Amino acid sequence: MAAVKSTMRRRSFSLLPFLLLVTSLPARQPVRAKHGMVVTRESNATDAGETVLESGGNAVDAAVAVGLALAVTHPSAGNLGGGGFMLIRFANGRSTFIDFRERAPATASRNMYIGPDGKATQDSVTGYRASGVPGTVKGLEYAHRKYGRKPWKDLVNPAVSLAAKGFPVSWALAESLKSKGTSDRLNQFSESKRIFLKGGTYYSTGDTLVQPELARTLERIRDQGARDFYEGETAHLLAADMKDHHGTLTLADLHDYKVIERQPLTGNYRGYTIITAPPPSSGGVGILQMMGVLEGTDYAKGGAGAASTLHMIAETMRRYFADRSEYMGDPDYYKVPVSALLNARYISSLRESIDPARATPSSQIHPGKLTAYESSETTHYSIVDSEGTAVAVTYTLNGGFGSAVTPAKLGFLLNNEMDDFAPKPGEANMYGLIQGEANAIAPLKTPLSSMVPTIVVKDGKLRLVVGSPGGPTIINTVMQVILNVIDFDMNAQEAVDQPRIHHQWLPDALVMERGFSPDTVALLKAKGHRIRSVPMLGEVAAILFDGTWLQGAADGRTAGTATGTAKGY
Ligand code: GLY
Repeated sequence: MAAVKSTMRRRSFSLLPFLLLVTSLPARQPVRAKHGMVVTRESNATDAGETVLESGGNAVDAAVAVGLALAVTHPSAGNLGGGGFMLIRFANGRSTFIDFRERAPATASRNMYIGPDGKATQDSVTGYRASGVPGTVKGLEYAHRKYGRKPWKDLVNPAVSLAAKGFPVSWALAESLKSKGTSDRLNQFSESKRIFLKGGTYYSTGDTLVQPELARTLERIRDQGARDFYEGETAHLLAADMKDHHGTLTLADLHDYKVIERQPLTGNYRGYTIITAPPPSSGGVGILQMMGVLEGTDYAKGGAGAASTLHMIAETMRRYFADRSEYMGDPDYYKVPVSALLNARYISSLRESIDPARATPSSQIHPGKLTAYESSETTHYSIVDSEGTAVAVTYTLNGGFGSAVTPAKLGFLLNNEMDDFAPKPGEANMYGLIQGEANAIAPLKTPLSSMVPTIVVKDGKLRLVVGSPGGPTIINTVMQVILNVIDFDMNAQEAVDQPRIHHQWLPDALVMERGFSPDTVALLKAKGHRIRSVPMLGEVAAILFDGTWLQGAADGRTAGTATGTAKGY
């Protein structure tokens, strides 16, 4: 060390500019820790996860506590009334995928959202007919029973306390509740208006949001487990409220709900193993197909954010989303042609169809209809524990605040996941996604998802845990973060911060986030892309292991937080 110091002194004049460059960190830095990391969308939830890790819980325990805490503090997407996916990679290298996504009720039918005029109604989006059978409570309990280690009550109690004592309303939550789109929907349902809009007077930043009905529901879940939600008092209250409002969910639907543990989908990219979400997610197939197309190109040579790089990425996105519209659905109802979609020859043919100089109009890939692009609410969190077990959870109510319905006496919002089916096959859903018969509604079927919690491994060692909300943009967001790490050698925070693009075939628009230079945009326009600018895309929660440190990166686009633990317990 002394020798280094003396060298520095001797040469300080000539080397000063260089030293400033290497000692002032060149990029935004992630949170670093050695013994565990929690990254979520909301600080109380992050703290709940960290407390579990620090008191000897494993990553699955922490994931349960975070999921329940977010159901209190992030009501637009955190939930008891929705569903999601949990991807786990254990320290011994085994991985598993827990599907606790919503399922269609037993009375659901293909044309249930088609009105007398033959057009799709709004019933799949707002109100008592929009919900699939919620899976979150059973999914979290399943994960805990099979893979957790702490007592269940220790994982539910932080959420009970946040609901009973309240928490300060953040600027982001206050603004989202006041926004016209949200308040117009929540206003239609008396319980939602009373709880989330303060009876119509609205919450201000810093107000305390106390949710006594939700606290009681959580206490029952703490004391009786998921049985309360699916068969007990909560189930009976929910079914009764549904009946009173001509809703679709019944006691039998709740009773019959099943969590499905699936094999994750895995693939390779440039020597890395990608462990990702299988159908009924369309995300894992998408990521593996798109990265397969890119792997055979020199797409990265222009550098991250270069027009040539973005063009190649956008063209792979456009092609995957055309396939998605046709081939993706619930694998328990429809044989999703996963291996054909990931077949090397097929991937080569996709690659060959890309012109590096020109955008291929989507109409030449598949005919379709242009519709408006909308954003979405879902939430993702990533956790790694001291033993190296990694958990990636993406769960959702689908649209922000789901169906906008809060059933009487229960205090939680219900999902509008039925809109993730093709409410009218061949027509766009609320994300502007065209979907076919593979994703048509049927009783007990699972709607197709874009959620794609993903874990990347190199040489048998954990490298990256990643996921995002954002409807169909999830797939492209997650892929870009992976590419930023593997191909552009970014740290976790840089990889998350880098501006993103999105293409979903139809509408034929290259969606570009704020942050790209006007020159880049002009070059892409010159290649024939129709550009649509948006303020932001996605909200990533990522953890990268760099061989020494766990790097936690929350997304500065919203109010995410990362907390590492340095405690060796
Ligand atoms: N509801 C969003 C998704 O599952 O893709």
